[in-house]
Amino acid sequence: MKRAPQSSSPSSSPSNPRLALFVLFAGCSSGGPQSILDPAGPQAQQIEDLWWLFFTICTLVYVIVIAFLAVPIWRRHQGHSDSADRPLQITVGVATAATILILFVLAGASYSTGRALSELPTGDALIIRVTGRQWWWEITYPSATPSDTFTTANELHIPVGRAVVLELDSADVIHSFWAPNLTGKRDLIPGRPTSLAFRSDRPGTFRAQCAELCGVQHALMAMPVIADPPEAFEAWLSHQRSSAAQPQTDEQRRGQQIFLSRQCASCHRIQGTSAGATNGPDLTHIASRGTLAAGTLPNTREHLADWIRDPQQIKPGNKMPPVPLATEELDALLAYLLTLR
Ligand code: CUA
Repeated sequence: MKRAPQSSSPSSSPSNPRLALFVLFAGCSSGGPQSILDPAGPQAQQIEDLWWLFFTICTLVYVIVIAFLAVPIWRRHQGHSDSADRPLQITVGVATAATILILFVLAGASYSTGRALSELPTGDALIIRVTGRQWWWEITYPSATPSDTFTTANELHIPVGRAVVLELDSADVIHSFWAPNLTGKRDLIPGRPTSLAFRSDRPGTFRAQCAELCGVQHALMAMPVIADPPEAFEAWLSHQRSSAAQPQTDEQRRGQQIFLSRQCASCHRIQGTSAGATNGPDLTHIASRGTLAAGTLPNTREHLADWIRDPQQIKPGNKMPPVPLATEELDALLAYLLTLR
C-alpha cells in the first residue's frame, strides 16, 4: 500500500536527518551573544578549549562503545558463533584501563582550567558591584571620589582589554551570573559576597543570564554586557556619573511632576531630583539603556508605555505594581522618561 503524500515539504519531515541534526544541535550554535563557543576573552577561551576536549573524547568513546556493541550483533546475524573467552577478557581489561586513564585526563584538564580561570592579572582591574534581585541586576561603579560613584541597572558596561572584577552579592535569594562569551558562572548568595574576574579582548554586546532558579521570573533575568573600546567606555562612564537631564518642555515638566508625586518615586531613584528610593532600578539614565525589565523588552516608547501600564502582564510576579494613569498623564511621563538619556 502506498503512503498518502504528505502536504509538507520533505525537508520538514520529522524523519529528515538534517532536521534531526538541527534539533540535536539547536543549543550549540557556534556563535552569538550568549555562547561558550564564541569566546571574547581568555577565561571564556579556556572554557571553550575544555569543552572541545570533553566533546572530542566523549564522542570518540561513544563511537567505540557503539561499534563494540554493533559488531557482535552483526556477526551473530551473519551466522558466526561467539569467539573464545580470552579475547573478551583482554578487551574488558583494555576498556577498563582506558576508562580510568580517560577519567584522569578529563579530571586533570578540568582542574587546570579551573586554576587558569583564577590566574587573570587584576592589578589594574575595574571593580564593579553587581547585586542580584528578584528579578533584575543592580550595578554600582564605585569610585575613590564618592561623588563619582553611581548606580545603574540591567546593563553592564566593561572596557575592552582591561580586567574587570565583579563583586557579587544578592539582596534576596540565590542568583547566578553567567555571561558565557566572557567567563563561567558564579553564584550570588545572600550574605556570602564573592567575586568574579574576567576580561573581554574585543568590543561587542554579549548576554548574561541568571543561571540559578530564583523564582517565577528567573528566565526573564538577563542583562546585556557591553564591551566598549576604552575611549567609548570612559565617555559612557562620565555620562553615567552626571545627574539626570532637566525637563525642557511643559509636557516633560509635567511628566517629572507625575513621577515625583505618584508611586514611581517610592521605588526608583533619579539622580538630581528628590526621587531617591532604591527598591527598584535606578532610572537616572534609563533612556540610554537598550532593554527594559532586565533584558525582557527592547527599550522603546511603546514597550515602556506597556510596562508602566501593567508590568504584571509582561513579567507576572515582579515587584512593580500597575500604575494607573490617564492617557495624557502617561504621555507626559513617557516624554519625561525618554529625556533621561
Ligand atoms: Cu536570578 Cu535566576
